[in-house]
Amino acid sequence: MTTVDDSDRSMMKTNLELIGREKINDLEAVLSFVGHYEEQGFHRVPDNCPAEFTWDYDKGAKPQLDKLYEKAKKAQWNGQTDLDWSIEVDLEKVVMNNAEANQDQMLWGQADLSGTVLDSWGDKEWLIFGVENQNWLLSQFMHGEQGALLCTAKIVETVPWIDAKYYAATQVMDEARHVEVFSKYLDTKLSGHYPMNGHLGLLLDDIVSDSRWDMTYLGMQIMVEGLALAAFGFIHSMTTEPLLKQMLRYVMADEARHVAFGVLSLQEYYLELSAAELRERQEFAFEAAIRMKDRLIMQEVWERLEVPTADVVKVYSQAPDRDDFQILLFSKIVPNLRKLGLLDAADGWLREKFTDMGVIAFEHLTDSTEEEDAFADGSPVERQVV
Ligand SMILES: [Fe+2]
Ligand SMILES: [Fe+2]
Repeated sequence: MTTVDDSDRSMMKTNLELIGREKINDLEAVLSFVGHYEEQGFHRVPDNCPAEFTWDYDKGAKPQLDKLYEKAKKAQWNGQTDLDWSIEVDLEKVVMNNAEANQDQMLWGQADLSGTVLDSWGDKEWLIFGVENQNWLLSQFMHGEQGALLCTAKIVETVPWIDAKYYAATQVMDEARHVEVFSKYLDTKLSGHYPMNGHLGLLLDDIVSDSRWDMTYLGMQIMVEGLALAAFGFIHSMTTEPLLKQMLRYVMADEARHVAFGVLSLQEYYLELSAAELRERQEFAFEAAIRMKDRLIMQEVWERLEVPTADVVKVYSQAPDRDDFQILLFSKIVPNLRKLGLLDAADGWLREKFTDMGVIAFEHLTDSTEEEDAFADGSPVERQVV
């Protein structure tokens, strides 16, 4: 195990420095940061990266990356023709059907709403909330996919190995397709876009602007895509809408490869890093975990529905099921960080943090290099709706 000496310890960052607040569960601080579209219609981030040519064209020097690349070439699909866009989506009906089918998973089931605006909500208001919730969720998927598109294009430039450049190029195509299908679904089947969640935006800015090539992988492939894979799996299992189910199945097959790509690329590299360097990776993973947890509060929906912050804080802090749901979303991330040695590096700093967050129990689940989906051929049978 790598250890941290006293000079490293004095460099230890506080929560305030890492995530902008002392208490992880300071809901008021989390809710105070809401995402908005910029007036100019775009968001520009300097990516600070040196583009790296390699003169070593030896294909297959990294056999597992090569295998993943060969699988990825066969697994390409067409978002316009492989999905059944003729399926009509009646969003209000979908919201009602989902609620009916997933009674036990309703996050508000046991919350005490008394004294809040939500207490006066009837079926109509909850239906509006359900519709906005779907619009927000799919919007975040779409924006996150664009983040993945940009990050993976950056990896093509910065990663030093030819097998990784080849593979990353296939992922760029995958991510373009994901942005395309989520965007089409939002425009043609749902009823409105949301801007990128503020906390997700902070995280993506940090990932994109970091000059170290491995940080792009750690932030995107391990953290963001690891959480997305668990979230897609959850929505795939609970939605009653057949087109979304089909689309998520296709996307998940690609995402399994992407997360495996992250683990396979980083595991060797991290063996070479010092304890202090690993500590920086741990801190980055922790920051990412908190940002992704923060976004689940859906600040933008509450703002649009004009629900006061104090009411949202009151309800969230009393919704016990919400914690279970949040924790579940870390089921892919924790085993992968363990595989990378990041839980126990630097005196187990990250293990302690994840223990406090209640997600450490996932560490022994299958990591993404062993997921069947990652190395599947992606034939139509393998992607069928299950
Ligand atoms: Fe994606
Ligand atoms: Fe991805």
